[in-house]
Amino acid sequence: MKPLVSLAVAVVFGVAALSAQAADPIMIKFSHVVAPDTPKGKAAEKFKELAEAKTNGAVKIEVYPNSTLYKDKEEMEALQMGAVQMLAPSLAKFGPLGVKEFEVFDLPYIFRNYEDLHKVTEGEVGKSLLDKLEKKGVKGLAYWDNGFKVMSANKPLKMPDDYKGLKMRIQSSKVLEAQMRALGSNPQVMPFSETYQALQTGVVDGTENPPSNLYTQKMHEVQKHVSLTNHGYLGYAVIANRGFWEKLDPAVRTGLEEALKEATDYANQIAKEENDKSLEAVKASGKTEIYTPTEDEVKAMQKALAPVHAEMSDRIGKELIDSIYTTTGFDPAK
Ligand code: LMR
Repeated sequence: MKPLVSLAVAVVFGVAALSAQAADPIMIKFSHVVAPDTPKGKAAEKFKELAEAKTNGAVKIEVYPNSTLYKDKEEMEALQMGAVQMLAPSLAKFGPLGVKEFEVFDLPYIFRNYEDLHKVTEGEVGKSLLDKLEKKGVKGLAYWDNGFKVMSANKPLKMPDDYKGLKMRIQSSKVLEAQMRALGSNPQVMPFSETYQALQTGVVDGTENPPSNLYTQKMHEVQKHVSLTNHGYLGYAVIANRGFWEKLDPAVRTGLEEALKEATDYANQIAKEENDKSLEAVKASGKTEIYTPTEDEVKAMQKALAPVHAEMSDRIGKELIDSIYTTTGFDPAK
């Protein structure tokens, strides 16, 4: 090689090496509100690990659990503004964003089990719901499972009448509001991070959540009774700031998509087991009486909550509700 050419080559390579060294990783802040030791908390960590490996360090993910960065409502705003890049809010929290159709997942007894749910989240209906987020500047990427909810309070909860007059903490969903009203209780929308204290101080009397959330927030320490009602589902949509996501280098985005696919499989594999383990732990604590409703009590609850589907059909869309009945092959009214 002629000296001049080799000098040019050395300069080009030198500059390339320098810029590779100097290139900062793309930072993704992933904020959420639950404990690390929950289905969502574990899945977020799994996603971080996989995403950083699959992008060869081009992406660095910082996971902020337990509302350490933002609470429920603020995290949605932060995502839209680009202050965080990814979230996995509960499906019950998309109403304030203006995509109230997600509240269909909150309808009481709409899913008999995870199989019903997966027919929706892994099918056309689930995809079309995620697509509705685009106009809000949000990219809907995946669904992560949590589980079926139990009711808790400081009194036994067996029949619908037992809920009369109770102040019940709920997520920001009109369907959940209607559900609690159908039971004669007073729903109070409140951020997840404030729920334990509200229960402890008596600002609210009770709440609903899957066992993994109840246990990891220590709610069982301030709730004497838990009823295994399994009356509704709580799960998540993994979302990103749309502008951020679409501007990513395609190779990086593919790496993230692959990581997310694996993390989603993992999330949905562990969700039931994590909830079962948490329920066992609540039992073992001896702090809460756990009640399994009888068949008649389940029927009475189903009857009391059935009108919520029709009542909410204007808000959510009758067509969407019907498409879920068709997808799962189950209409709770029939
Ligand atoms: C709640 O607010 O009860 C849940 O949405 C928390 C969560 O993210 O699971």
